[in-house]
Amino acid sequence: MTVQKVGVVGCGLMGHGIAQVAAQAGCQVTVLEADAGALEKGLGRINKSLGKLVQKEKISQADADKAFGHITGTGEVKDLADCDLVVEAIVENLDVKNALFKDLGALCKAETIFASNTSSFPVSEMGAASGRPERMVGLHFFNPVQLMKLVEVVRTPATSDEVFAEAKAFGEACGKVPVAASDTPGFVVNRLLVPYLAEAIRMVERGDSTPADVDAGMTLGCGYPMGPFTLLDYVGLDTTMFILEGWVEKYPNESLFEVPALLRQKVQEGKLGRKTGEGFFKWEGDKRA
Ligand code: CAA
Ligand code: NAD
Repeated sequence: MTVQKVGVVGCGLMGHGIAQVAAQAGCQVTVLEADAGALEKGLGRINKSLGKLVQKEKISQADADKAFGHITGTGEVKDLADCDLVVEAIVENLDVKNALFKDLGALCKAETIFASNTSSFPVSEMGAASGRPERMVGLHFFNPVQLMKLVEVVRTPATSDEVFAEAKAFGEACGKVPVAASDTPGFVVNRLLVPYLAEAIRMVERGDSTPADVDAGMTLGCGYPMGPFTLLDYVGLDTTMFILEGWVEKYPNESLFEVPALLRQKVQEGKLGRKTGEGFFKWEGDKRA
């Protein structure tokens, strides 16, 4: 892997985890975050996560200190100019992502690889916005990044062989198993997972079941580690709604992509899940209350 300097944009649920695994892989990491409070919170989560890994004897205290020392926060996009790789993990909004990649395309050195952690949007559109489509790839990590073993490496028709190979090598260096995916809605996992989550909500809307019973069904009956409502809260109800809204706009005839009214209602009420302390369930930090 030639990637040494990594930029991560966004220090929320995903960005903090991506910054952490990149730093543990030995990269120098600069995290760009628009909200100073979110940056502080994200860095705090990294510190806590490294502490857990030390406590469980997965890594040494010296390795944790070294990884944390590799991470610098910033509020200025210019600080990403000399990165070998920039991984974007900001809000799931294609216009906002395109604007960021346009800025990065104008600013970064010619060799920089651009990657998006988007859950659902076409990576090729972000590549076009950057002005360097051959250097654009999807790197779709899973939540929580520190624990989930998969990364989908999304190749567009324009992605160069070299960029794809480098992105895959970076994923492996971060301790993940890379799976190649095409630039289709939701790639492999979310094309199956998000309609399943939406259908679970519709089941409750129809009055067929309750969140607790649906979750019990899928954990005890199918061996899933989390039922769909716990997972919805874990992922973020806003993010799930943005994914479905984006798909509805692009693929209006696909009935699987409809946005359940109950999901919209929860988001309007500010009940976004784990990150706001309440979604379908109540949360205390990272645990269900
Ligand atoms: N860093 C370090 N350690 C962590 C951690 C973190 N961020 N989060 C949890 N841990 C540790 C915990 O401390 C705990 O340690 P102990 O065993 O010593 O107590 C251990 O990991 C297990 O955690 P929990 O006890 O909290 O809970 P768990 O056994 O249920 O495991 C889980 C947690 C791995 C998240 C598991 O519940 C799981 O696999 N859930 C499903 C997650 C999933 O499906 N993710 C994909 C979401 S979809 C997506 O990401 C794509 C998208 O675009 C939306
Ligand atoms: P989040 O809301 O937790 O964090 C997003 C962060 O990006 C916020 O802290 C926000 O302040 C920051 N931000 C927004 N615009 C910015 C900009 N222009 N520049 C710098 N920072 C900016 O969201 P998240 O759950 O971490 O999701 C981030 C991305 O990862 C989304 O594309 C999402 O679809 C994808 N994703 C999410 C999950 C999940 O389970 N939550 C899993 C895989 C992929």
